[in-house]
Amino acid sequence: MITTEPGGAPATPSPQQPDTRPTTHRRNAVVAAGLPVALVALLAAAAGPAAAATAGSSGVGDPYFALAGNGGYNVRHYDLTLGYDPKTRRLEGRAIITARATQRLTRFDLDLKGLKVTSITVNHTKAAFRRDGQELVVTPRNPILKDHEFRTTVTYAGTPQPVTDPDGSLDGWIPTDDGAFVAGEPQGAMTWFPANNHPKDKASYDFAVTVPEGHTAVANGVFRGQRTAHGRTTFRWRQTEPMAAYLATATVGTFKVEQYTAPGGLKVYNAVDPREAAASAPVLKKLPSVLAWESKLFGPYPFKCAGAIVDHAPQAGYALETQARPLYDRAPDLSTLVHESAHQWFGDSVSLTTWKDIWLNEGFATYAEWLYEEQHGGKSAQKTFDSLYASPASSELWAFPPANPGSGAHIFDAPVYSRGAMALHKLRTTVGDKTFFRILRTWAAEHRNGHGTTAQFIRLSERQSGKDLDTLFHSWIGTKGKPSRP
Ligand code: ARG
Ligand code: ZN
Repeated sequence: MITTEPGGAPATPSPQQPDTRPTTHRRNAVVAAGLPVALVALLAAAAGPAAAATAGSSGVGDPYFALAGNGGYNVRHYDLTLGYDPKTRRLEGRAIITARATQRLTRFDLDLKGLKVTSITVNHTKAAFRRDGQELVVTPRNPILKDHEFRTTVTYAGTPQPVTDPDGSLDGWIPTDDGAFVAGEPQGAMTWFPANNHPKDKASYDFAVTVPEGHTAVANGVFRGQRTAHGRTTFRWRQTEPMAAYLATATVGTFKVEQYTAPGGLKVYNAVDPREAAASAPVLKKLPSVLAWESKLFGPYPFKCAGAIVDHAPQAGYALETQARPLYDRAPDLSTLVHESAHQWFGDSVSLTTWKDIWLNEGFATYAEWLYEEQHGGKSAQKTFDSLYASPASSELWAFPPANPGSGAHIFDAPVYSRGAMALHKLRTTVGDKTFFRILRTWAAEHRNGHGTTAQFIRLSERQSGKDLDTLFHSWIGTKGKPSRP
């Protein structure tokens, strides 16, 4: 599902590929003979440009990941049924994708990398398909009409291979010694399920993941139970609030599971690799209080449930804010827990429309760490800002402006995280604490379970503060090099 901006304009104009086949015009010419002129004009208008563009595009137009996502439809719901055997590393999957066409569709793409597709149906009728790199091109028997809901079922299997991102990191279904660490930012969702793989298109999810008895499969959202039969256990999960594909997980391992209801009623489900249990226990204990503290600062927690997955996955080397249940590659320290928790508001609930805006995720989550420290007896945010500002002009901190990383190779670099947080600190000291925290809360509220852009954040900050903030944002997120004044 794609949300619209507050102004009412669709947030997502999908680039369309022209369909070059001449059929509609020729048909019109035949129909035209002997019909009143007005009716001919009406028919021509109806069959005009909309009917001409009937192939969904192979990307949503992201400047950094040209093939990420697909045009022509919005997904409402993914129903994923998976089976994984950590020993053979074989994944078997069936994805039922409910989507709504935003144009007439004679064919459309899904993103899926590797894995063998054995069958596809659209509205219960067998559909033709071909593979073209990460594009799974589906041609339904009958065209899908604009605004119609349709259901695509993809059956597939194979050994998932993680993708290597432009920054060299592994992303997607990453095998571990006892299962798989499943983290999809920015591209990896397509390594384990067919998706409209861009945060512009968020959807709800159901998961049923079957693993050998003794293993646990942990996905997003509410835990709906587990059942063991013939040595295999199926775990069911449901994520009802819209979620970007990169935030989906189905992490498998031999985990210790802990479930409880936090004060205030939030249901918590933690899964921890026993090797990381001792080190993570004191930090995980703080999850409810961290979420309560963040709720005070940023407004109500956006999801129905919470938790953590602490894996032992040195091959990944990073944590990810998987929705409602962040995923850690090792026992997290407290600031990492604060960071991934803050992403639940900034990144998960309020999502990107383009990867170029990544500072809206990482700058905000990093600034949450600074604030936490400040309010829990540590360094003030000003001190953290000052020590960063002391970095020499040649430092990689100033290599590019946070709002313009230049390419997908730099979206997780220091300027996005640290200088992004510095920009927020500058905003805070310029507008004052009261206005600053109102801006953050309004941002989270107005775009809750939707999307936000850098331009919208600047407009909101100016509206809330009554100040012209062009110069501030220009020098802190828009201009290359170290700003001349702290
Ligand atoms: N969003 C993650 C964080 O909270 C970082 C993910 C990095 N992913 C990657 N493929 N390098 O910092
Ligand atoms: Zn982050």
